[in-house]
Amino acid sequence: MKIFKTKSDLKKYLSEVKKTHKSIGFVPTMGALHEGHLSLIKHAQKKNNVTVVSVFVNPTQFDNKEDLEKYPQTLENDVKLLESINCDALFAPSVKEIYEDNITSDTFNFDGLEYQMEGKFREGHFDGVGTIVKTLFEIVEPDVAYFGKKDFQQLQIIKKMVEKHNLPVKIKGRPIFREEDGLAMSSRNTRLTKEYREAAPFIYKILKKAKKKFGIKSANDVTEWVKKQFNKHPLLELEYFTIADEETLETVDVINLSADYRGFIAVFAGDIRLIDNIRF
Ligand code: PAF
Repeated sequence: MKIFKTKSDLKKYLSEVKKTHKSIGFVPTMGALHEGHLSLIKHAQKKNNVTVVSVFVNPTQFDNKEDLEKYPQTLENDVKLLESINCDALFAPSVKEIYEDNITSDTFNFDGLEYQMEGKFREGHFDGVGTIVKTLFEIVEPDVAYFGKKDFQQLQIIKKMVEKHNLPVKIKGRPIFREEDGLAMSSRNTRLTKEYREAAPFIYKILKKAKKKFGIKSANDVTEWVKKQFNKHPLLELEYFTIADEETLETVDVINLSADYRGFIAVFAGDIRLIDNIRF
């Protein structure tokens, strides 16, 4: 696998790739790679001639300094994992290489998607995501980029950015990968204590039960039921649960039979914030 630290070296390599009309698949990550990332990358490998992965812990998308400082960084292990699946190229730039001396976000208008759910609790988060993803797209110029549906709001926001800025890249969302006990895979899971790790599968259990109730009970009743389950839980603290339209991400009021809905949840397991969602 080729490893690039600078934009210019990566671009040189990719310009050779492009000369032979090869399709480039791109998987942007913040590292601490797990099976979920690997499945995205393997899918990209199947669909494209060349697959590029980026590992970059993007400072501008963290609304919390401590979360950024504690975000797991395991580049050596990430390289081993990527080599084990024969990934073609890794882009692992420094913060300076991306932002030079100006670590700030651009401001985006995502037509309101940014004000729902995560946007209410993580100020500036989606401007940071938009900034880095757009920058990476401009460097890599991929044909297709792949994102996991665990961050479903992020996926919709990136699709919106691509549409509004006419970026020449296709965006594909891929299914959530789960541990055997149902916990959605996340780099943050490695930071859970044993006690919280054992408690965390409760999140998906409740999502599955909520899904069963949806259709029999109103969205409001299901939401209240979920809140009650977390109020009773001794360890996990619910930040939000909402049932929202997949396209607008707006909380459902009256169910429209032609729309698709998802239950979205954010939960604190101690100081680790976990998110998940399920299609209803
Ligand atoms: O989902 C992530 O890991 C990040 O938000 C992304 C898309 C790599 C941007 O930093």
